[in-house]
Amino acid sequence: MKVFLDTAIVDEIREFAATGLVDGVTTNPSLLKRAQAPYGEVLTEICRLVPGPVSAEVLAEDAAGMLGEARELVGIAENIVIKIPMGVEGMRAVRALREEGIETNVTLVFSTNQALLAAKAGARFVSPFIGRLDDAGHAGMDVVAEILEVYANYDFETEVIVASVRHPLHVIEAGLLGADIVTLPTKVLRAMFEHPLTDVGKAKFLEAWRDVPKQ
Ligand code: G3P
Repeated sequence: MKVFLDTAIVDEIREFAATGLVDGVTTNPSLLKRAQAPYGEVLTEICRLVPGPVSAEVLAEDAAGMLGEARELVGIAENIVIKIPMGVEGMRAVRALREEGIETNVTLVFSTNQALLAAKAGARFVSPFIGRLDDAGHAGMDVVAEILEVYANYDFETEVIVASVRHPLHVIEAGLLGADIVTLPTKVLRAMFEHPLTDVGKAKFLEAWRDVPKQ
């Protein structure tokens, strides 16, 4: 399973990139707003820290506008992937960008049919939003399971990014389903390192070490 970070906070990305655990990064306008720095500089630095795919989202609502934004964004770095919201205009842009050799991540996906369309349009990635589905009273991970099954039935190469992840249990569920990628807020990744018994164990080892003869 590949692990992406779902943040645009450069310091957080730097911290975890140094562990070698980060395979890519996903950003969106809300995450860039939190970063509170010019987005071009932020994306440039993220692409420098993480050599894997870094998703940057377009804002235009029509395919021509999306293509214009996409062509500017890919100028930032070689590993930029264009994040495009699901919709007819979006899928027109995905198709055109694929023909230009530009990779896309179809975002704001909430159903298996939307994911099917994204794959047929030629997206490299599709991002079902699990947490927001859960919030709305649907079982988000059931949608991931369906998408994976449909993709396997037709040998689609589009990779599934489990997005809108809220807690470590989502990561376990994604892993059990064999999802290609999870994109994690740093809070969730940090929580995955933790276990109370690890803390107890560390404290006991330190305590024992005090009584170990040193000479
Ligand atoms: O990757 C998508 C993610 O940023 C959305 O997360 O928590 O706003 O639903 P959330």
